[in-house]
This record gives sequence, C-alpha cells and structure tokens, in this order.
Amino acid sequence: MPRPDHLQFGALVHGSGGHIAGWRHPRANPDGELDIDFHVRLARLLEDAGFTALFVADVVAVWGHQLDSLHRTTRADYLEPITLLAALAPQTSRIGLVATATTSYNEPYNLARKFASLDHISGGRAGWNVVTSVVPLEAANFGRAEHFGHAERYARAAEFVDVVKGLWDSNADGALIRDKASGVYIDPARRFHLDHRGEHFTVAGPLNLARPPQGHPVLFQAGASPTGRAFAARVGEVIFTAPVSVAEAVDYRTRLDADVTAAGRDPGDVRVWPILTPIVADTDAEAAEILAELGSLIHDDVLRRLVQDNFGDEDFSDLDLDEPLPDFGTATNRSQSRRAGLLALARGEQLTLRQLALRFSARADTVGAATTVADRIAAVWATGAVDGFNVSFPYLPEQAERFTAEVLPILADRGLFRPPTGTTLREQLGLERAA
Ligand SMILES: Cc1cc2nc3c(=O)[nH]c(=O)nc-3n(C[C@H](O)[C@H](O)[C@H](O)COP(=O)(O)O)c2cc1C
Repeated sequence: MPRPDHLQFGALVHGSGGHIAGWRHPRANPDGELDIDFHVRLARLLEDAGFTALFVADVVAVWGHQLDSLHRTTRADYLEPITLLAALAPQTSRIGLVATATTSYNEPYNLARKFASLDHISGGRAGWNVVTSVVPLEAANFGRAEHFGHAERYARAAEFVDVVKGLWDSNADGALIRDKASGVYIDPARRFHLDHRGEHFTVAGPLNLARPPQGHPVLFQAGASPTGRAFAARVGEVIFTAPVSVAEAVDYRTRLDADVTAAGRDPGDVRVWPILTPIVADTDAEAAEILAELGSLIHDDVLRRLVQDNFGDEDFSDLDLDEPLPDFGTATNRSQSRRAGLLALARGEQLTLRQLALRFSARADTVGAATTVADRIAAVWATGAVDGFNVSFPYLPEQAERFTAEVLPILADRGLFRPPTGTTLREQLGLERAA
C-alpha cells in the first residue's frame, strides 16, 4: 500500500497527562487516570478532531524500579488498557483503540482472545502494541527473580505473535454460519486446530471466538535496538519511536525500511509515528514558562529515578543532581537504545543529572504558540521520515484541547492534515485487511 499523503495522529492517553508531574499542574485534573467519564470526554474530543487512534501504554507493575519515588507520581495507579479501551469502544464510533500488552508475562491464547474481543466489540478498531517489558518489577510479579534477557524476550515475542496470528486465523472468515434450519452454528470445515509446538509455547487452538473484523488487529511496536528493530520490521505495522533529533528520525526510517525489505515486506505497509510532546500556549514565551513550571513540580527523588529508570541497572542514589553524569558504559538488559541516547546527550553537552532528566525524561519536545508547534510538525513531516505522530499531552485536558482547537486547523489549512477516512483502524491507517 502507498504511504499516507496526510499526517496521522495517535494519542498516548494518560488520564493525568504524559509529563511525570503533569498531574500537579494547576489546570490538570489529578483524578484523570481513574475517571472513566474523563477518559470518555478525552476520547470523543480526539475522535472529533480527527485523531486516528488512542494508545494506552502499560507495564504489569508499578511503573519504575522502586517504590520510593513512585508515591509521588501517577505511574503506580492506572487502568488496565484493554479493560479501559473496551469501556471506551461503545462511547466512540471511529477512533482506533490500541492497548499495550507484553509477550513476556502473558500467554498467547489469553491475548489472542482479548484483542479479538476488543476488535469485535469496537467494530474493527483494535490495535495491539506488542512490547517485551522493560521494568524489572514486572518479573517479580510473575514468579521470576530476573527479567528475560533481551535476546530471549524478543525470541519469545516472535513466536508469541506467530501463535496469536495463528489463533486469529483458526476460524476462517465466515465460519460462523448460525444456520437455524440445519442446526449448524459454526462451519466445522472453516475452523482449524493450530497445533503449535514451539520453543516457548505449545498451543492446540482453535480460538473460541470468530475471526476479528480486521482479520488481525493492527500490530504496533516500538523496537529500537537492532534486535528490536528486526522484530518491528517483521511484525510491526505502526512503529512508535522516540528519536532525540530529526536526524535520528530520518536515520531510523532509513534503517527500518531496509529491515522491512529484508524481512520480505513492503515498507509502504509500515507506518512510523514518533512521539510528540507538545505544549501550546498563546506565545512561545508562555509555553516555555509552562514547561519550566512543570519541571519545577518534579520532586528531586523523582528526577533521579527518571534517569535511572531509563538507564537501567545502576545505582544513582548517591549521585549529586547538579554534577555531570559519571561515565557509565552502554551495556544493559533494559532498553539499550534509551541508555545509549541518554549517554550521548549527557556526554555531548556535559549535562548534570537534573538537566538530563529535564531534557530527556521530563521534556516537551515541541513548545510554543500554535504556529510554532505546527511549523515543527510540518518540518518533520517534510523529511518524509514519518507518517504521523503519537502525541503525549503533558497535562490534561488543557493541552489536548489547545492542540485540537489550534494546531490541527493550521495543519489542515496547509493541506498537511485531514481526518482519516474508513471504518476500521486498518482502513484509517491505509493498511490492507489481513488475508
Ligand atoms: C513511544 C513509546 C512507547 C512505549 N510504550 C511502552 C509501554 O507501554 N510498555 C513497555 O513495556 N514498553 C514501552 N516502550 C518500550 C518499547 O517497547 C521498547 O522496549 C523500547 O522502545 C526499546 O527498544 P528495544 O527493546 O529494541 O531496546 C515504548 C517505547 C516508545 C518509544
């Protein structure tokens, strides 16, 4: 399929906002994470404005390494994504519903069933963000002393996704014939046993649910390391990225397109959405003030953990927040790309731990008046390296309201954006239905 000729937008939905201290902003709703009415209003606002998808991130633990700083954040208190999106499905009519679920601490049969259910409930709007887990506390919730190694968890993920797709296909399209006269509900000739026996999973099948309306719910992925990118290239249909510069975004796209081609797929069948964290205000200066204000609301303990959590496997508790970061190596069983990115930034500009936290982990990357924000989006789009953005609003609802009311109309006037067409999420993304 050809790549889209207009910008697409997804929204990373954290009820209280994507910024670590967003919930403390004077105009933020601190109850947002658990308030279903708030989620419904937000979903409708984004749907009406032409967003393609709502995306809910997840880890199966409190979101960090240790509990000491988490009591100061909303990262320890949020709704399970598939449950939340199933509740939003009948309250919305078009927008895609994408839930994150890990292949490390689930079984394929359970997830195949849940995503097929979400696809049926929503009329073909489900997406699965396939992750392999990054937070060590997840392992401890599932009887493991340590998280799976990087290579092992991606090998498990590859087999997991194959099994899930096999289960979705284990009932052919049209297998449900529901023929009252003959008394045949499901055509036995169109229901298949999977009989999968692999290295990580043994699954008989078939799935106890008709084939999803989209054939397969859309697969989202965010692999960034060479192993992760190879996995994304094999299975990902929408790829999230978190580049630290436009040059890195262009470089990622070039490498990904090569990996996709090497995997025997058409690069036109893969969308790339980098994360966008906008702050929109009346003037550039006012927007910068909001970002500084958000930064000042982060407690020192949280700042320290922000870097440490993305860095992995190091003890930062004795480091001075206002001294340059010591020279750590790049080896980690956590996100290799994030650690490398942090190190490069810290070394390149001799940043202190505090500066690094504010620049990398608690940033907003596109800050200014609506025209400034639209200009930056247009500039990234012009590189041809992206198909859209996954927008994380630093605090809510104000930033979602301003982005939809002020930035999207400018992009529409410039001919860069229009609301998606189509019914299913696949159609809206310009992707083929799974054969
Ligand atoms: C925008 C974005 C959102 C992500 N959301 C999640 C998430 O919700 N849960 C999770 O476990 N990992 C999440 N990740 C991490 C990725 O799954 C992946 O581990 C990371 O990009 C590092 O890639 P690597 O595994 O190839 O090193 C996210 C990454 C990005 C860029």
